[in-house]
Amino acid sequence: MSQRFNLRALRAEFPALDQSVNGQPLVYLDNAATTQKPLCVIEAVTHFYRHDNANIHRGVHALSARATEQYEAARHSVQRALNAAAAEEIVFVRGVTEAINLVASSFGQRLKAGDEILISALEHHANIVPWHLLRERLGIVLTVIPVNDDGSLDLGALPQLVTPHTRLIAVNHVSNALGTLNPVAEICAFARTLGIPTLIDGAQGLPHGPVDVQAIGCDFYALSGHKVFAPSGVGALYARRPWLDELPPYQGGGDMIESVRFDAVRYAPPPAKFEAGTPNIEGAIGLKAALDWHRQQDWCAIAAHESSLLAQAQEGLAALPGLRLIGQAEHKAPVISFVIDGTHPHDIGTLLDAQGIAVRTGQHCAMPVLEQLGAPQGTVRASFALYNTHDEVEALLRAVHRAHRMLS
Ligand code: ALA
Repeated sequence: MSQRFNLRALRAEFPALDQSVNGQPLVYLDNAATTQKPLCVIEAVTHFYRHDNANIHRGVHALSARATEQYEAARHSVQRALNAAAAEEIVFVRGVTEAINLVASSFGQRLKAGDEILISALEHHANIVPWHLLRERLGIVLTVIPVNDDGSLDLGALPQLVTPHTRLIAVNHVSNALGTLNPVAEICAFARTLGIPTLIDGAQGLPHGPVDVQAIGCDFYALSGHKVFAPSGVGALYARRPWLDELPPYQGGGDMIESVRFDAVRYAPPPAKFEAGTPNIEGAIGLKAALDWHRQQDWCAIAAHESSLLAQAQEGLAALPGLRLIGQAEHKAPVISFVIDGTHPHDIGTLLDAQGIAVRTGQHCAMPVLEQLGAPQGTVRASFALYNTHDEVEALLRAVHRAHRMLS
């Protein structure tokens, strides 16, 4: 174990992990839905409320100045976490869903009937439905990179799917439902050769290691705070500066303007132009604490640890007769989805909860891919984070065997 990766010490930073559920020690394996929060995040938000609470940007008083300073410092933390070229390329949003809706709304104003948006079969509904809304409104066309049976993308199909009408390629970094890690730098490099902009849904990327948007070469990258040890209701959209200059605002209101008259409005420069109204100030401050904490972690050691958790879970579950793993791509984040013949995922999930084990069941907001891979009722999904242990994987395996016996 590396000096910086001490699992016991790391777990002690997450108070919610230390509790019993249904008389058993909690085993929290629902990290793709939301992660637990370290003390530094909880304390940053509490400290803000106890000492600095005020609205930002518009106040001349001390508390407002302190709040503004912390909010803008959070923008710099996001910039560092993503290796964006400038803090002005970071727009605070509610999360990935709002980030993609922002792009669909603003970038969508350039689109007309017959223009194509290329997504993948692995997408979360957040990267399908905003484009569908444009299809309804404008008559754009949604094309889809197919998925192979193992849950990897069929990138061989990509060149045929791109046409002179393709306006954007929008794919996820990591599939929330299956854990597939997509070669986003390769996809963006291909898109760049054709002059097509790219958007990456990064909800499940940053929780498992550093992200470098310049190395990926994307035009847009979206993240959700709550998936990366920060509060919910805050996230960020990275957009290359020329886009932020060029695209129209997403919402109108205070803070996004330079001047307002009844006959004319001048917008503020980005990123303010895209941040109408009072933002989630405390959320951004919590996000800063989480991302500063994230930066201090030993991600080499964590990647090895997370891979070994995944391997242990895959091996143990595959040994159970009638259990089918859904999504076994070669490159995966530590997310494991499965179904068991003759059982409903919700029944398995309920029996696991009775044993203190938190997993997610259902379609994980990714109905198309689960239908295609033969799991229309959804799956049981165990998703690991850096603080999970091999003992917890053992507890999961024991509990799944017990649930299987009870239901068969
Ligand atoms: N999108 C979240 C998940 O994957 C809720 O569970």
